[in-house]
Amino acid sequence: MENRVIIGGQWGDEGKGKIVDALSKDVDWVLRYQGGANAGHTIHIGADKHVLHLVPSGILHDGVRCLLGGGMVIDPWSLRDEVLALEQKGHSVRDRMYISATAALLMPFHKRLDELRETRLKRKSIGTTGRGIGPAYLDKLQRTGMRMGDLLMPAENLERKAIEKILAANEVLSEFYDAEPLPARIVAEELVVLAQFLAPMVVNAYDKLSGVRAGTESALFEGAQGTMLDIDHGTFPYVTSSNSTIGGALTGTGLPPRSLGEINGIFKAYCTRVGNGPFPSELLGTKGDELRDAGGEYGATTGRARRCGWFDMVASRYAVDINGMTGVIITKLDVLDDMDSIQVATAYELIGEEIDVYPVLSEQIPLCRPVYREFPGWDKPTTEARQLQDLPANARKYLEYLEKELGALIVGVSVGRDREQMIWTPTGVTT
Ligand code: GDP
Ligand code: IMO
Ligand code: MG
Repeated sequence: MENRVIIGGQWGDEGKGKIVDALSKDVDWVLRYQGGANAGHTIHIGADKHVLHLVPSGILHDGVRCLLGGGMVIDPWSLRDEVLALEQKGHSVRDRMYISATAALLMPFHKRLDELRETRLKRKSIGTTGRGIGPAYLDKLQRTGMRMGDLLMPAENLERKAIEKILAANEVLSEFYDAEPLPARIVAEELVVLAQFLAPMVVNAYDKLSGVRAGTESALFEGAQGTMLDIDHGTFPYVTSSNSTIGGALTGTGLPPRSLGEINGIFKAYCTRVGNGPFPSELLGTKGDELRDAGGEYGATTGRARRCGWFDMVASRYAVDINGMTGVIITKLDVLDDMDSIQVATAYELIGEEIDVYPVLSEQIPLCRPVYREFPGWDKPTTEARQLQDLPANARKYLEYLEKELGALIVGVSVGRDREQMIWTPTGVTT
């Protein structure tokens, strides 16, 4: 099987978890390359529902090896809980999941700093997931943070190092935020216990992935978040703190560009965003509520109601282009089944001028008003469709339009949350 990168094309929650699960049956490796427990990747298998935050979405297939890549920020407390929850459900994890020693180690004070910073920003807050992501990446870029490889140190050295970091963070907590310091010794002792649990999985990822580099083992790269949340290419400052775009797949695994293979963007047939920041095609009234109800659009990590709107062709084409997507997968087509009509933002109106090239300036995006094109609905269920021919004519026309305007083949269409509810279209949807 050819290697493949799965990247969110919008503002996250496009259904990446479902797609990674559906594609990982025959791969050797599933590699998460960035982000942390801000991600919430949902997989339904029959009546079983799994929400994965740090563990790669390939874990539900026995025999697939999973790596938490060096580009991630890993909260050992969360990771332990997630591993134990999977094991309780009968999935083997510790014999085939690996953690890159170079991944950043996210500490409880990062979460605390995340919350305090958000509170201080008041109405300018980003609406983060509160998982400590920004502060943990900041510690990495400042070259002060700990790494997962530190869990391999002798216990007393690890404890000493952790105490030093916690005391430094405590100064910021008390002096800058006037907040309670964390109990350094207790937190450090907990980390030592967690190290015993996690250390056997910590590896030299360069060495572990030699088969992928050589082309003898296959890999599926699992992105978190989405292109419009990328620290460099997203709607800054309302973004996450990592590269959720294609560059992150390279820096976050240490694999060379030739290992990437196909680059597949995942897009909902409409659009959602959770947290604050610009969203030109957002629907604020009852139409937005209708989409939220139909799509069950509540955050997998925080439970927050997701903001809903129509497909944004301007932002999506940008996502196809900057990631070099060789194919796209449209998810949640079934959510539109009962809609009388469907709209797509084909251009933006920016201060009296119509543009169809995504404007990258933070000041301009909130001023963009969508210019819509309307499509008739199909008013028939699509959930049982397993091939293109099974879809209603208007649904096919909608997909053909998306394929043409995105400038990338639609290689798959998801018509329900279950693993099996997929239409694979490797040669595209236009006949
Ligand atoms: P991710 O973060 O990109 O993995 O996406 P999330 O798991 O946060 O959100 C996607 C939600 O949509 C989850 O609840 C999935 O179970 C669900 N889902 C995925 N694909 C489909 C689909 O084609 N149809 C429907 N109805 N639900 C889907
Ligand atoms: P998955 O992988 C949707 C959003 C947050 C907030 C911004 C910054 O499930 O698609 P952070 O906690 O990262 O500092 O928050 O990014 N965000 C996501 N939105 N899906 C996600 O992940 C997200 N991860 C972060 O809501 O707006
Ligand atoms: Mg999600």
